Amino acid sequence: MSTKNNDNQNISHGNIPKHIAIIMDGNGRWAKKRLLPRIAGHKAGMNNVKKITSYANKIGVKVLTLYAFSTENWKRPTDEVDYLMHLPVNFFDQFMPDLIAENVKVQVMGFTDELPSYTLNAVTRAQEQTKNNTGLILNFALNYGSRREIVQAAKAIALSVKQGELDVDQITEATLQSHLMTHNLSELADPDLLIRTSGEERLSNFLLWQLAYSEMVFTDEYWPDFDATSLNRAINEYQKRHRRYGGLVEK
Ligand code: FPP
Repeated sequence: MSTKNNDNQNISHGNIPKHIAIIMDGNGRWAKKRLLPRIAGHKAGMNNVKKITSYANKIGVKVLTLYAFSTENWKRPTDEVDYLMHLPVNFFDQFMPDLIAENVKVQVMGFTDELPSYTLNAVTRAQEQTKNNTGLILNFALNYGSRREIVQAAKAIALSVKQGELDVDQITEATLQSHLMTHNLSELADPDLLIRTSGEERLSNFLLWQLAYSEMVFTDEYWPDFDATSLNRAINEYQKRHRRYGGLVEK
């Protein structure tokens, strides 16, 4: 079944990517273009998270993983880091009733024990409040870095071997996968589609293991401008691709 939407993009509702990951880039440039401070771009970016979450949920996306703060983002000026750390607090204060009404389940992955207590409290509470919801999983990557995630997994596996719980020959891809921060998403752990906004075309230490076979769509739009039409366009592009996972036959 194909449906026309307001951008005249045909998206097939039988082939919606189950897991979409987004690198939400360009908030700063969006603000600069409007002669606004960078934090105004982050605020607009936060509001856009809500819009895209609602739309993705409506069309049947199962998991939306959003790169909200990387382990490298601490290098930014203190006042910007401070603003970014308050975004989850503001986001859940403002949108929790809607998220509950829309049956959205919030999850957070990253080195969360390094977050300020107010940020950690806000995300912990949001996860608790939505844990029984069965709609879209809104998975925030917060203080997340993929290389460090893989190192952490390798250390945990090495420890199991050292303690005699695991034989080296028993280590498989599934072993590593089960130690990654996406492990609780089980068969949905690997994104079907990665989107990066703002014209940059790199992964910036995001989901390096999980993106092995993902389709990637890069768009010039800044994150606050990326709307439902833009998402439809990215999904349309995804649906035109042929996923073969290294074989000859499309899966
Ligand atoms: C990159 O744009 C964006 C970020 C580092 C922050 C992304 C965060 C949000 C979009 C809001 C997250 C919302 C919640 C609820 C946690 P940039 O600042 O690097 O933009 P630039 O490259 O144009 O400077």
